[in-house]
Amino acid sequence: MATTWCPGERKVNQRRTLCGAGADGRIWCLLLLPDAGPADDAVPVAPPDTSAALTTRPEVRSTATVDGPAEDRASTEVFRATDLNFYYGSFRALSEVSLTVRQREITALIGPSGCGKSTFLRCLNRMNDLIPGARLDGSLTYYGEDLYGPGVDPIEVRRRIGMVFQRPNPFPKSIYDNVAFGAKVNGFKGNMDDLVEESLRGAALWDEVHNKLKHSALGLSGGQQQRLCIARTIAVKPEVILMDEPCSALDPIATLRIEDLMGELKKEFTIVIVTHNMQEAARVSDVTAFFTAKADDTTGQRTGLLVEVDATEKLFTNPNDQRTEDYIAGRFG
Ligand SMILES: Nc1ncnc2c1ncn2[C@@H]1O[C@H](COP(=O)(O)OP(=O)(O)O)[C@@H](O)[C@H]1O
Ligand SMILES: [Mg+2]
Repeated sequence: MATTWCPGERKVNQRRTLCGAGADGRIWCLLLLPDAGPADDAVPVAPPDTSAALTTRPEVRSTATVDGPAEDRASTEVFRATDLNFYYGSFRALSEVSLTVRQREITALIGPSGCGKSTFLRCLNRMNDLIPGARLDGSLTYYGEDLYGPGVDPIEVRRRIGMVFQRPNPFPKSIYDNVAFGAKVNGFKGNMDDLVEESLRGAALWDEVHNKLKHSALGLSGGQQQRLCIARTIAVKPEVILMDEPCSALDPIATLRIEDLMGELKKEFTIVIVTHNMQEAARVSDVTAFFTAKADDTTGQRTGLLVEVDATEKLFTNPNDQRTEDYIAGRFG
C-alpha cells in the first residue's frame, strides 16, 4: 500500500493552519478541521511549523505496568474501540471488537491468518478509507475523540499515526531524501540535517549510514531498509507507530535489531504491532490481543473477532479462553 504522504497533504496543512491549536493545548485539536468545506488549493497559505505543533503532545499520566489485566491499568488511553464492526462491501471482516490501546505501551495483535489483524490495524489510522466499499461501524476513539467523526481529516490522522509495512518500501531516492521526504511535504522549517540525523539515530541506523547519506536507499540490506522506513516514519513526529508484520521479510539478526529498536521507540511512541510470530509478541509487547475467525452459521463467511486481550505475560502463561490456549499451544492456526 502507498505511503501516508500524498500531494493532498499540503492542502490539509493549509486547512490545519486555519484551525490552529485548541485553547486547552490538547493535540486532538489539530485533527479537527473547521466545517469550511473542501480546502482550496489556490489559496496561498503558508504551511504550518510542524515542530511547533508537536509540543502539544499529551503527557503520560502514569507509568505503564503490565502486572494486571490491561483493562485495569491506569496509563493514558490512546485508542478505544467499542463494538467495532468492519466491512469490505457486504463481507464482515471484523465483528464487535472492543479493545483499548494505552500510551507508550507495545500492543501486539496475534491470531491466525485472515482473522482481521491487518484490517483492525488499518482502522487505527484510517488507512482502510482508501479501499472502495470499506465501512466501519461501532466506535473508535483516539484520546477520547471519535477518530471517524465529522471534520476529522484522515491525512492528518495518518501523519499522527504512522505506519510501517511488512515489506520495507523505501522510495527510490537517497537515504537522506527518504528521511527528509515527509518533513519537506509538511513544510518543515527547522534544520533538516539535524532532523535526518535524529531520525536515523532514533531508528538505530545512523552509525551504519552516516557516511553515505546521499547513496540510494535501495542499496541497503532488507533490515536496514526497514529501519530506514522507521526513520522516515518517526521524522514526521507521529504519536503512534503501527507496524504490520515488520520483521516477517527479515532474517533473524535483522529481526532482533528491529525488536530491540521497538523497546527504545516505546519510550517515546505508542506502538501497535501485528505479528504472526508468537515469540516475537512475547518478546516485545506489553499487551497482547488474540484475534480469531469464526464461520457464520448461514453464510459460512469467516469473520474476525477479538477473543481476549491481556498483559502479554498473563496471556501467554495463563489465558482466560480455551481458544487462546489452543492457539498458543499450536493446536490451530
Ligand atoms: N481489501 C480487501 N478487500 C476485501 N477483503 C479483504 C481486503 N483485505 C482483507 N480482506 C479480507 O478480510 C479478512 C481479514 O483480512 P486481514 O485483515 O488481512 O487478516 P490478517 O491480517 O489477520 O491475516 C480476510 O478474509 C481477507 O481476505
Ligand atoms: Mg495481515
